[in-house]
Amino acid sequence: MNKISVVYYSSTGFTQAMAEALVEGVKSAGIEPNVYKISEVNVDDVFSSDVIAMGSSACGAETIEETYFVPFMDENLDKFNGKKVYIFGSYGWGGGEYADNWKAQLEGAGANVVAMPILVNDGASDEELEQLKEIGKKLATI
Ligand SMILES: Cc1cc2nc3c(=O)[nH]c(=O)nc-3n(C[C@H](O)[C@H](O)[C@H](O)COP(=O)(O)O)c2cc1C
Repeated sequence: MNKISVVYYSSTGFTQAMAEALVEGVKSAGIEPNVYKISEVNVDDVFSSDVIAMGSSACGAETIEETYFVPFMDENLDKFNGKKVYIFGSYGWGGGEYADNWKAQLEGAGANVVAMPILVNDGASDEELEQLKEIGKKLATI
C-alpha cells in the first residue's frame, strides 16, 4: 500500500470538496492519507510519500494559487523527480489551462502524472466527485 499525501488550495470550497472526495476514496482502500492545506503543508511529510495528490483552483493568470502553492512548487521542484503525482482542481473562465501549465511543470521535473487530471468549472458534479473517489481508491496501489 502506498503512503499518500493530499495537498490543496481552495478559496470558496470547490477544490476542497474535490479533495475530500479523493480522500474518501483513499480511506476506503484502507489508507489514512496525510491531508494538508497548502498554507500548512509539511514538506518533509509530503515528499516521503509514494503518491502526492495536489489540488488547486485557477488563480492569477492561469496559475495555481500564488502565495503558497507557486513557491512550494518552485522550491521543491527537483523533489518531484520520479514521484507519482495526481492533480485536480476548479477553474472559472480559463477552461483549465492553468492545469495544463501545472502538469507540464511537473512532467518537466520528471514526475509521473498517474491519471488524467479532473478539472471542473466551479463545483464538481456528483459524477465528478465519484470519479475522484475512484481515483483516490486507485492511488492506494498504483
Ligand atoms: C484572484 C482570482 C484569480 C483567478 N484566476 C483565474 C484564472 O486565471 N483562470 C480561471 O479559469 N479562473 C480563475 N479564477 C476563478 C477560480 O479559479 C474559480 O472561481 C474556482 O472555481 C474557485 O475554486 P475554489 O473555491 O476551489 O478556490 C480566479 C479567481 C480569483 C479569485
